Amino acid sequence: MGLKRVWQGVLRGAEKAAQRIPAVQKRLETEYAQVEAMVRSKMRPKLESLPDFPTLPEQGVPREQILEWLQQLREQETPLWKQGRVSGTVYHGDEHHTAFLSQVYALHAQSNPLHADLFPSTIKFEAEIVRMTARLLRAPETDDPAQQVVGTTTSGGTESILLAMKTYRDWARAEKGVSEPEVIAPETAHPAFDKAAHLFGVKLIRTPVGDDFKANLDAMHRAMTRQTIALVGSAPGYPHGVVDPIPQIAQLAKQYGVGMHVDACLGGFLLPFIEALGYPVTPWDFRVDGVTSISVDPHKYGYTPKGLSVVLYRGRHLRRYQYFTATEWQGGLYASPTLPGSRPGALSVAGWAAMVAIGKQGYLECARQIMETALHIRKGIEQMPELKLMGEPLFLIAFTSAQEQLNIYQVLDQLAQRGWRLTALQRPPGLHLAVTIRHAQPGVADAFLSDLRDAIHYVKAHPEAKGEMAPIYGMANSLPFRGVVDEVLRRYLDALYD
Ligand SMILES: Cc1ncc(COP(=O)(O)O)c(C=O)c1O
Repeated sequence: MGLKRVWQGVLRGAEKAAQRIPAVQKRLETEYAQVEAMVRSKMRPKLESLPDFPTLPEQGVPREQILEWLQQLREQETPLWKQGRVSGTVYHGDEHHTAFLSQVYALHAQSNPLHADLFPSTIKFEAEIVRMTARLLRAPETDDPAQQVVGTTTSGGTESILLAMKTYRDWARAEKGVSEPEVIAPETAHPAFDKAAHLFGVKLIRTPVGDDFKANLDAMHRAMTRQTIALVGSAPGYPHGVVDPIPQIAQLAKQYGVGMHVDACLGGFLLPFIEALGYPVTPWDFRVDGVTSISVDPHKYGYTPKGLSVVLYRGRHLRRYQYFTATEWQGGLYASPTLPGSRPGALSVAGWAAMVAIGKQGYLECARQIMETALHIRKGIEQMPELKLMGEPLFLIAFTSAQEQLNIYQVLDQLAQRGWRLTALQRPPGLHLAVTIRHAQPGVADAFLSDLRDAIHYVKAHPEAKGEMAPIYGMANSLPFRGVVDEVLRRYLDALYD
């Protein structure tokens, strides 16, 4: 760890020095401009009739016109995900389900849970989303407040993770006198943990994973100090879809009296049903002693509209550290359970409606289709000598090149040419496909395998082909100067709003 930090310091110094050289500056600006141009061309809606609105229109645009634009945009943007050509992203997407959710949303579009007196129904829906989710994750039925699993709804996986980290910080400060809090997470854990560390003054210590991409327990143990407030494991992690050894991490956390957060944002609504179907799943939920909190996203494999996640705690006292109250404000007494003030109550209503409409059997059937499709794709990849799987996949399949001369990012570009959108992984390079029921449609998995074979053959025959994303990912993956990569990302964000 110490050596790594020294090396990073040396690199940062070298990078700053290099950036003062005019030739380097010029070269960097050219590279940045290329990325910006690419982002701008890709991210602009391609609708001739849609004007730009740099200022408010003097007179309002007729509603029919707006609806027509939106309808046309929807028609342009739907085919890729609808035909199952995209990793994750739209997890259900069935027309009847989507129409039902829109109907429910419209009925409650005005509601705001911040004003519980006016909209008491949203309180019921939020509370039941939390309870149903806790039961799904095997919360014990008990009257003991220290063992009861409680939680809140949030706007997404990131907010659930932010809140859990803030909760541990405030808990450890109040109950253990920890002033310089540290959280230990495997390298594979989601960047929301970095964001939490950045926002809440917590130090995040990243520990290496093994060749199987699972958290290395010894490394986590070694990283613990008196300032450690929580350990993290994923079920599964986003990059490789691998479940960390949660029981062992939880035991370690319990032994030292610190929190243990399981990030089940991606898998929380799928793993219980995969397990029920008889597939082996590493224990990860509230049956595991020592697990003290879990983040889980109904808006992924729970098939609710985007904007709904749940954070759960073992022990009622823990949740109180998440809350915010202001008792002295001239605007009155103020209390909010999560990060935002006002919240879209309609999202909770639609989320609740999705969960109640699908039910256990519906989720089980989706899980069956997803696992059968994932196994089929996995077998197909295993038969390609040019590729190798990364870790033991369940429903998210990560793979990389098995041959040094095959650039996996060029395969990504070639798949994109053939209409597929996979996720690029780095350090080490790889690709992943999070299988959803979109991929379970007839013929989709076979079409993917066939296009993947074609893409590989193309790249082997044209190793010099540059592609669109391959140079960017190649650079990002290999460049020791991370400040340049950081600048590329910031310019990407700028370009989104320009
Ligand atoms: C494992 C994991 N954790 C957290 C998140 C963050 O969720 P969100 O994008 O809803 O903030 C994701 C998103 O893909 C994820 O896969």
